[in-house]
Parts: sequence; C-alpha cells; structure tokens
Amino acid sequence: MSRTAYVNGRYVPHHSAAVHIEDRGYQFSDGIYEVCEVLGGKLVDEARHMARLSRSLSELQIRMPMKLSALRRVLHETVRRNRVADGLVYVQITRGVAPRDHAFPSPDTPPSVVVTAKRVPRIKGEHTAEEGVRVITLPDNRWDRVDIKTVSLLPNILAKQKAKEAGAYEAWFVDGDGCVTEGSSTNAWIVSQDGTLVTRPAEHGILRGITRMVVMDIAANEGMKVEERHFSVDEAKMAREAFITAASTLVMPVVEIDGKVIGNGQPGSITLSLREKFHENAEIAVA
Ligand code: PDD
Repeated sequence: MSRTAYVNGRYVPHHSAAVHIEDRGYQFSDGIYEVCEVLGGKLVDEARHMARLSRSLSELQIRMPMKLSALRRVLHETVRRNRVADGLVYVQITRGVAPRDHAFPSPDTPPSVVVTAKRVPRIKGEHTAEEGVRVITLPDNRWDRVDIKTVSLLPNILAKQKAKEAGAYEAWFVDGDGCVTEGSSTNAWIVSQDGTLVTRPAEHGILRGITRMVVMDIAANEGMKVEERHFSVDEAKMAREAFITAASTLVMPVVEIDGKVIGNGQPGSITLSLREKFHENAEIAVA
C-alpha cells in the first residue's frame, strides 16, 4: 500500500512529499515535533502530546498553524489514510518558509505542518522487551532547553549513532556531576534495591516525557514509591532494575549499562509489570 503524508494543507504521496528548500526547519532546525503511539488505530495520550506541542510552539514563539481540533483531525486522518493499526504518528511544525535570515521572518509567515504515520508491528517491541536492551553513557552536550521538543536533535542523533556502533540500543546523557539526565530519545529510570522508582525531575534538563507521566500514574495507582531526583551512573549500575520510556519504546527494560549487567541480566519484574499495565493507564482516544 502506498503511504500518504500531510503537507501544508494537502494529503500527498509519501514518496514525493516535500517542503521548500527555504523552510526554516530545513535551514535552522527552527521547529518542533511530536511522536504519538497508535494502538488499534487510536492515538495514545493524544491530549497530553497536543498540550506539549502547544507549549513547545509557545516557548519558541511559533504560532499555532491551525486550531488544535483541526490539527487533531489531520493526525487522525493521516493515520486512517495510511491504515495504521499499530505504529506511530509524527507531526512537525516549523516557523515556515522565508528567505534565509537568522531573525524571525514576518509574523504573517505561515508555519509549515507535516504529518506522517507509519506501521510498527507491536510484536517487534515485545521481542525487544523480552530480551531487554543495553545502554551506554555519554556526556550531555545539549543546550539547556531540552524541555522543548525541537527538531534540533544533532547531539541526540550523534549519541544514538554511538550507541548503535557500540552494539547498544540507547545512549544515556550524563551531566557534569555524573548524573544521568535522559536518553537520546527516551527518559531514563532506575529501580532502587527497595523497589523505589527513581527518575530525574522534569525541569529544564530533560524532556517531560508523556510515557514518563503515565508511569507516574501507574505508580500512584499501584501504591509504588517514586522519587524524582538526580541519580548517578554509579547508582544506576548498582540498581535492581533500569528502564527507559518513550512513545516509541513504551517501558523498555535495560539490562546493561556501559557493559555492567543490571540485576541478573534479565528484564526486571517491576519494569515488566509497568510495561504490561501501560495501556490500561494511558488515555486512548476514539479515532
Ligand atoms: N522521543 N526524551 C527525549 C530526548 C525524547 O526524544 C523522547 C521522545 C522522550 C520520551 O518522551 P515521550 O514519552 O513523550 O515519547 C524523552 C520520541 C519518541 C522521538 O524522538 O522519536
């Protein structure tokens, strides 16, 4: 089946979908994005993804290209046209097309909007989760506004590539104090020996992950203890369990950090139960 993308008001064949060469996303990475899981044709945690999208736009002073309700319709329609049952929907909004100049273009420049959807078989993630994944650590060399979900991801892609070359699934960024901030495209968690979930506070040092919020909700419902605090790489290596969260991975067990085996080297039971409970606790909108 041929894929369809939404580009600035039109649904076009994916293979020929394009934006102008002077799009500010292309020239300056002057834009934001969201990735939302699709489950059974429905969007998972759409409202929270849309709220974060609005915030990212407002932090960068990019205007909302259309009403939120209209944008949501485009997301659903792109999923529908691509007949995605399980997979991901991607939305990107940039400051639009204008002659290259670092300063903002005139305020009447329409933002550019691109939406794509792709199928990802659920079984793929399930297989990975059965084994667990390896992570490496790298110095965090990103700017201090990683709370904004911008398409400006150069340090993240370089980190992910280093992980791949090291035979790992993810790279965890480490701050100047030796504490883990987050993964290149995931939030980072550990489970302490007494079963407490530990993750870095969502200030400016990390992205406030939606999957992370759902895990917080599960913990609250299940009476599990959560500590939002900094944790070091050394503490992570001695943890009972470790895992990462993102819309694209859900709750994914980590079984090795920089070559040090976590626990008994198998996905942890707390991590797996969080993964299992994830969709019961996420908000799944009607398509
Ligand atoms: N990444 N931290 C970073 C740097 C991320 O890029 C992501 C998401 C997360 C997790 O956020 P959420 O739970 O809302 O997906 C944390 C997406 C999936 C991506 O770039 O593909």
